[in-house]
Amino acid sequence: MSKWFLFNFILLVILLWNVTNYFSFPNLPLHIWFGVTGALLFLYNWTRNAVFETIRNVPNRRTKVRLARFSKRVVTIHRWTGNIALLAILVHGLLVVNHYGLILSHSKMLVGVLALLVLSFQVVTGWLRLYKPTIKLRYIHLYTGMALFFLILLHIIL
Ligand code: HEM
Ligand code: HEM
Repeated sequence: MSKWFLFNFILLVILLWNVTNYFSFPNLPLHIWFGVTGALLFLYNWTRNAVFETIRNVPNRRTKVRLARFSKRVVTIHRWTGNIALLAILVHGLLVVNHYGLILSHSKMLVGVLALLVLSFQVVTGWLRLYKPTIKLRYIHLYTGMALFFLILLHIIL
């Protein structure tokens, strides 16, 4: 089992904790709904890393094959969930800027903008990977995903 399952679960709990404690919960403003949707879709895609790590580390061959088959089945969804995450976050960012203005001295907003840039890069490297799979692109796609995990965590706890 990959340690990333635990890390992802912790991010999910922090996310749910934050939004359920929002002052108007469950009547959340639209920008928060879009932010939550983007974060959940990111988590879904990032869990691929945890599954891949488990496939590499699990000693039992039958479990390995079962996990690999399952992983192959969900990979076509991966590209669309990645794109929809970007779209949701774009709307989230636009609604936020519309509501509060773009204030980059506000650390939550600054980290949000950084996360949006990294997410766009993640989607681009994903498509490149699909058409030109190289080892270098694989690592870029993987480490950008990891950077994104910590940026989103920071964005939510700030
Ligand atoms: C990958 C990118 C992003 C993700 C996953 C994301 C996710 C979220 C989530 C889940 C929330 C609600 C939870 C909380 O307040 O702690 C939130 C709030 C917020 N986000 Fe983002 N966000 C992203 C990008 C952005 C961008 C680009 C901006 C600014 C342009 C931004 C600005 C904000 C602000 C100001 C809030 C607080 C809103 C409020 O409390 O009314 N975020 N974000
Ligand atoms: C939220 C955005 C995304 C995240 C967090 C993400 C994350 C990941 C992770 C963790 C892996 C496994 C890494 C490894 O090789 O060990 C992966 C694989 C891959 N991703 Fe993404 N990805 C995202 C968006 C996309 C998009 C938009 C595409 C577009 C086509 C894409 C295409 C791929 C491909 C082709 C693979 C290899 C699949 C395989 O070997 O089965 N990704 N991604």
